Amino acid sequence: MSADYSPATAADVRRLRDTLDARGKKLVFTNGCFDLLHAGHVRYLEQARALGDALVVALNSDASVRLLKGAGRPLNNQNDRAEVLAALRAVDAVLVFEDQRATGLIDAIHPHVYAKGGDYTVESLNAGERAALNRAGSEVRILPLVPGRSTTSTINRMNAGHGVGRLRIAVLGSGAGSNLRAIISAVQNGRLEAEIAAVISDQPDSNFLKLACEAGFPAHFVDPGSNPRKLGDAAQKEIFEHLERARVDVVVLAGFMRILKEPVISGYSGRIVNVHPSLLPRHKGAGATQLAIDAGDSETGCTVHLVTAEIDAGRTLAQARVPVLPGDTAETLHARIKTEEHKLLPQVLNEWRERGLPVRDAGAS
Ligand code: GRF
Repeated sequence: MSADYSPATAADVRRLRDTLDARGKKLVFTNGCFDLLHAGHVRYLEQARALGDALVVALNSDASVRLLKGAGRPLNNQNDRAEVLAALRAVDAVLVFEDQRATGLIDAIHPHVYAKGGDYTVESLNAGERAALNRAGSEVRILPLVPGRSTTSTINRMNAGHGVGRLRIAVLGSGAGSNLRAIISAVQNGRLEAEIAAVISDQPDSNFLKLACEAGFPAHFVDPGSNPRKLGDAAQKEIFEHLERARVDVVVLAGFMRILKEPVISGYSGRIVNVHPSLLPRHKGAGATQLAIDAGDSETGCTVHLVTAEIDAGRTLAQARVPVLPGDTAETLHARIKTEEHKLLPQVLNEWRERGLPVRDAGAS
């Protein structure tokens, strides 16, 4: 007799939903990869289950996990992942789906509640999924991630424990490249055990790109397209392909002056960091050092944060403070901030390699 778990079908789940509905009860629906289950998953699923009377999890198939997370994933195949998930107290049924998005299932099932975890906001949900949720009249609930618990951080800890934990990073930039230089020297002198697997720029003549070429790293110019301020769709896709080919764990934005969108933002969700020259959430966007001077701030600094679809709004990982001195210009202040960035960014990356996604407050370094 086979011990394999038989996942539910969309039709099974729709029947369950209709039965619950007839009794005035609610079906909660969520979706994800759920590779290497950890306490963060369990707490998330418990919270999702508490939003209604039954919880159904749509599990990304192996092929769709590969597209979402890269060639090395999943670690556990879809049958095993489904079986483990279905054994959890909070989970009433599991179905496996092939798409990267849950749009088709939402249309088929019409869940009463749709739960999503992580750095999403209702606005940053995929537009197709959002439209399907509107059609289905589903209530959308965003549940917080449990800090430090993720499959990626589990894998990093396992690798670090076996001495093979070199974080594969890609660095994206457009300008002077001083943060790239700081990362390179941290790697060279052993303060950061990372491999610079790709360096990508939208500026063919930037110091950033020259530095990468001179140092012999795989460097790529990506033509940003015709709009001087935006990064076109073809460029977004090309960057994603470079990251996938280089099997990148973490994407580092070090002075990258354009906004990343899909497919990178979802494909590398929770794995993109940016360094910004202010103590976020103060002074988001361009010109942050001048804004600090104009506001009469006596102190500013730099922030390393996760990148989400919303500009400079992802979770803060670490900050360092810098005084604003009398007579400072944007340039003198920026130079003082950069000195801190050059220490903070490699530190955050090394911490990530050792223990998984780091979270540190301002001044605590
Ligand atoms: C840094 O100040 C960083 O905070 C901002 O862009 C600047 C990049 O400088 N996002 P550099 O190119 O690393 O010298």
